[in-house]
Amino acid sequence: MSKKITIAIDGYSSTGKSTVAKQLAAELGYVYVDTGAMYRAVTLYLMRKMIVTDTNFDEEAILRQLPFINISFVFNKEVGYGEVHLNGENVEKEIRLMEVSQQVSKVAAVSQVREMLVKIQQEIGKNKAVVMDGRDIGTVVFPDADLKIFMTASTEKRAERRFNELKERGDDIKYEDVLANVKERDYLDTTREDSPLIKADDAVEIDNSEMNLEEQFEKVLKLAKDKIEE
Ligand code: DC
Repeated sequence: MSKKITIAIDGYSSTGKSTVAKQLAAELGYVYVDTGAMYRAVTLYLMRKMIVTDTNFDEEAILRQLPFINISFVFNKEVGYGEVHLNGENVEKEIRLMEVSQQVSKVAAVSQVREMLVKIQQEIGKNKAVVMDGRDIGTVVFPDADLKIFMTASTEKRAERRFNELKERGDDIKYEDVLANVKERDYLDTTREDSPLIKADDAVEIDNSEMNLEEQFEKVLKLAKDKIEE
C-alpha cells in the first residue's frame, strides 16, 4: 500500500483552490476538507441570530454562542465529498451567498472561532490521507504537512471567476461588487492578527492566472505523487 500524506492547499479567495483540492482528493482516494466552508457555516449561524449583520458585530455575543455551534461534514455520494452541516442541517448552498461572503472574514478573525475550527480540522486530518484547503492549513493547522501548496492569481482574474460562478448560479450580481469583495477579503485575510494568510516557507507557489483547471490539476497531482513516492 502506498504512503498516505497530508496535503495543505492555501491561498487567496477565488483562486480555484477548492476545485483542484476536490479533484486531487478524489484521484488519490483522500478525504477533502473545505475549511472555508466551516468559517462560512459559523458566520451563517451568527447572521441568522442577527449577531453579525452589516451594522452589528457583537464579539461577546459571538463567544457566548460558540458552544451551541456544531460543524460537521457529511459525505454526499452524488458529489463525491463531504458537505458542510450546521447543527445537522446541510448549509452547503446557503454559505456561498454573497451576504455570507461579505461577513465571513470578520468572523474568521475571531481567535476563539479559529481555535474551535482548527481543533476539528486537526482531528479530521490526524490519520493523514487528507487534502485540506484554506488560509492557514500549512502554517497553523498542519505545519508539518507533507505537501504544501500556495495558490495565487491576479485580483481581476479571481473576481472574474467568482463573478462567472455566481452568474451561472443565477445570482443577480455586479462584477464591481464581486471585485470589491475579493479585494476586501484579501485585505482582511492577510492583515488579521491571528493566523493571517501567508505562504509557508516550504510551500510550493502556483500562480494560476493563466492556467486552466486541467493544467493546475496535472501540476498538483505530480507534486502529490512525487511526495507519496519519496
Ligand atoms: O475559502 P473561502 O472563500 O470559502 O473562505 C471564506 C473565508 O474564511 C475567507 O474570507 C477566509 C476565511 N478562512 C480562514 O480564515 N481560514 C481558513 N482556513 C479558511 C477560510
